[in-house]
Amino acid sequence: MNFQTVLNDIYNHVVSVKDKGTIASYIPELAHVDINNFGLHLKIKNGEEYGVGHYNKPFSIQSISKVLALALAASQKGSTILNRLGVEPSGHPFNQLALLEIENGIPRNPFINSGAIVVADILVTLFENPVESFLNYIRDLTGDKNINYNPNIAKSEKESGYRNYATANLLKSFGNLHNSVEEVLDYYFMQCALEMTCEQITKSFHLFANKGKCLFEKTRLTEQQVKRINAIMLTCGFYDEAGEFAFEVGLPGKSGVGGGIVALLPDNYVITTWAPGLNEKGNSKLGMLALEQFTTKTQLSIF
Ligand code: DON
Repeated sequence: MNFQTVLNDIYNHVVSVKDKGTIASYIPELAHVDINNFGLHLKIKNGEEYGVGHYNKPFSIQSISKVLALALAASQKGSTILNRLGVEPSGHPFNQLALLEIENGIPRNPFINSGAIVVADILVTLFENPVESFLNYIRDLTGDKNINYNPNIAKSEKESGYRNYATANLLKSFGNLHNSVEEVLDYYFMQCALEMTCEQITKSFHLFANKGKCLFEKTRLTEQQVKRINAIMLTCGFYDEAGEFAFEVGLPGKSGVGGGIVALLPDNYVITTWAPGLNEKGNSKLGMLALEQFTTKTQLSIF
């Protein structure tokens, strides 16, 4: 199969779509990005790589970071983290509060904000300098020392993060946040403000398509951990649109409000798209379309 031709065809189709969705503005600093950006990068397990469009331009990875944070926490703490978190889809928006109150402070899964804040709390307990430890983890996974977070985006989210403060306070009231609200959210906002290109994200997710071994063949997670994290991506990676993503694309994956989506076929490939316009569920509109076309054209999905 000529993957470059497939990617080029998808690019040509997708950039011609008039309704590109809406850029997230609830974090004001995210709203400055040009809606016409579109990047797509594919890395096959055998090492072949293909890219089209703005696949080498850094963007705010936002919730995509939640998968890497979970991987780091799981690699240190194993399944004990499940004492504080569930693994069921929420069927609600990522920043919804009601479910957390009803379910006594145990987040449904690690990818909604409440769950990601619990994972952040675990990392804050584990590491003296959690931002540096997380950055080093990503830099080691990609072999790229230049990856960093954008302090302006972290600051902008801190200034407008009312729902995350409410969530962290609710977790604290149930005893499911061990460190202070400020400390955990300061870390969480920096984690979400990481900037990466499609190519760097693809590389960092290689371990999920390679049975736990990163790009440099070092074992980072057990096969069981990878199986489990991929399952959570499939069922919870797109919040109340997880069913739609499985239906249209058929891959485990994760989106972020910066417009990125990463998805993978275990033992086969990782693919990342970036298109900043979001649909009404907060997932990249053209990214979902591009990935639907990719798995339909190549017939390379888990189904
Ligand atoms: O906490 C937030 O709201 C953002 N830092 C991340 C949200 C996000 O990316 C949801 N993804 N689709």
